[in-house]
Amino acid sequence: MKKLLLVIVVCLDCLYCNAGINNMVVDVKKPVTDIAPTMYGVFFEDINFAADGGLYAEMVKNRSFEYQQNLMGWKVVGDIDLKNDGPFENNPHYLRLNISNHRDRYAILENEGFFGIAVKEGEDYRISLWARCPEGGESNLRVTLANPASMGESHELVNGWIKVEGREWKKYSTILKAPETKTKLVLRIFMRQADGKPIATCDVEHVSMFPLNTWKGRENGMRQDLVQKLADMKPGVFRFPGGCIVEGTDLATRYQWKKTVGPVENRPLNENRWQYTFAHRMYPDYYQSGGLGFFEFFQLCEDMGCEALPVISCGLSCQFQNPDPNEPGVHADVDNLDEYIQDAADLIEFANGDVTTKWGKVRAEMGHPEPFNLHYLAIGNEQWDYEGNPAFTARLQKFLDVLRKLHPDIQYIGSTGPYSDGKDFDVLQTKMIKMKVDLYDEHYYQSEKWFLDAKNRHRYDTYSRKGPKVFAGEYACHETEKKYNHFYASLCEAAFMTGIERNADIVRMATYAPLFAHVEGWQWRPDMIWYDNLQSVGSCSYYVQKLYSVYKGTHLLSLKMNGKDVAGDDDQNDLFASAVWDKKNGCYYIKIANVGTEQQSVSIQLRGLKKGNYKATGLTLQSDDREAENTLDNPEMVVPRESAVSIENGTLNTIIQPRSFNVLVVSYL
Ligand code: AHR
Repeated sequence: MKKLLLVIVVCLDCLYCNAGINNMVVDVKKPVTDIAPTMYGVFFEDINFAADGGLYAEMVKNRSFEYQQNLMGWKVVGDIDLKNDGPFENNPHYLRLNISNHRDRYAILENEGFFGIAVKEGEDYRISLWARCPEGGESNLRVTLANPASMGESHELVNGWIKVEGREWKKYSTILKAPETKTKLVLRIFMRQADGKPIATCDVEHVSMFPLNTWKGRENGMRQDLVQKLADMKPGVFRFPGGCIVEGTDLATRYQWKKTVGPVENRPLNENRWQYTFAHRMYPDYYQSGGLGFFEFFQLCEDMGCEALPVISCGLSCQFQNPDPNEPGVHADVDNLDEYIQDAADLIEFANGDVTTKWGKVRAEMGHPEPFNLHYLAIGNEQWDYEGNPAFTARLQKFLDVLRKLHPDIQYIGSTGPYSDGKDFDVLQTKMIKMKVDLYDEHYYQSEKWFLDAKNRHRYDTYSRKGPKVFAGEYACHETEKKYNHFYASLCEAAFMTGIERNADIVRMATYAPLFAHVEGWQWRPDMIWYDNLQSVGSCSYYVQKLYSVYKGTHLLSLKMNGKDVAGDDDQNDLFASAVWDKKNGCYYIKIANVGTEQQSVSIQLRGLKKGNYKATGLTLQSDDREAENTLDNPEMVVPRESAVSIENGTLNTIIQPRSFNVLVVSYL
């Protein structure tokens, strides 16, 4: 009788324990596949003032006077001429500051910066310019950071002097220390007598201002805080420079990498298509200086230890603007692509060629004789075939024919166009498989509904394993009507990404987009990292991406609940999950998203775990408010919080909070 009672109690106990518990099993003994080191990365495009005014730390707008309106961004007072026979062939304009008869009132230049010039108390800033006195003699330039009040009054915060001597163009600079933090200053430069000496007419070109504190202290540097945010993600791959920027609105304005290397003073300006793409968000002063060019890109990849993934024009200008491939003069002729293919081949040489090659030498002259070890090249951005005309695929084939012979070690990436599904997608996907590209690039900017839809939750489960691999090159989740950053959209991304991870054998790269946005200069939302001129903040999506990337592991493990993948299916209590092993440090990472409003008890058996002492930690990104978002004023509203998780006899037991994304880290003690 006693025995029977005991059995009943034990059975009830089991029932009680298991009621409402989501029992998952991770098979730690047999990895399913490796995870590509490139799996999670970043995609940089100069949209939302991501380069000039963003990552690129230059603080002077229109530094070479080459914007279409040459004085855009500048206020000039006094006797000033715009000249165009300057020392830099590709940026020929400069300003001549003439002397005036008035004793103290000479020509004055004032630059407004990108949404103002912001400085931090105690930090040093280098102001440099190229100058000469065309008629000989010397001139004194007073360089000041000032409040943007009416000129003539004293609103200086700090000043320095640059003495210009002689008829030859030379580079001059001075360093100013900011006595206080200010957000909306101007840079003012004007001639002024010193020691009663007469001053001479002075020519001024390429006026530049950088903080000394750039990423790695480089002179033509990047914003320290923004690169740090990228580096913290430990990205595996870095796609650059776009995006539609690659194509240009027309061929003339496409991104041409050769124009972005060599001395910065001579890199020609390009318009930025995001200046006018959206009529409701026009930025007439949005240009590309090329200061953040291909050398800087490769250098950043090297700094962060990730693979570079350049995207090159395939000879089609933006097909949204110019859909008809037969429109004369708008796209490069399919039978006349030599210049474009040569550009691609030369880019590979710039990255990998030895210093005796033409482009390897350019790289070496820029300070990097060692190759950058490029392994990937994407041909075209969002391209497609058009009404029976193989606009994209015919061009792509020509590139592949030449490049594969020249550089068989590079992996070439095609595209399935701008759409995630539908006829165009299907046609392109079939063609990419047929053409045997190494990877093809998919884009999806989609609603929350799409991200959680059964078809997409299982999107990659059914992809053929025989053909090319997949690069999810641009994606982000938004609400159906309004597009903006908010927690729930990021949670949907996290849930969807368990499907990417679960299919790590076919999906080898994934990069969220867009990456950067200036709070005063954006054209496209949502974005991963926001900033003003002084501070930056990671959105909830940033933290999702960072958690995936930092905890990407090296091998995928099978994770099942009742024998099935955990992909938010009807009987799975709004849970999505995936598991990986990190061979390098012996840790296991289990990612669980709960998109529902109920908390969930989860028990995860790590089947096959070697005996030993383990500890488990949970990193949780959670909010009860689906609209919650990190802002510059409240940057840590939703960030991962750490907690201990119970692990006993190889089984983890935890409560997964409603609407949360979690990474459970299991490590050997
Ligand atoms: O990321 C913004 C834009 O979205 C990219 O330029 C383009 O590739 C896509 O349409």
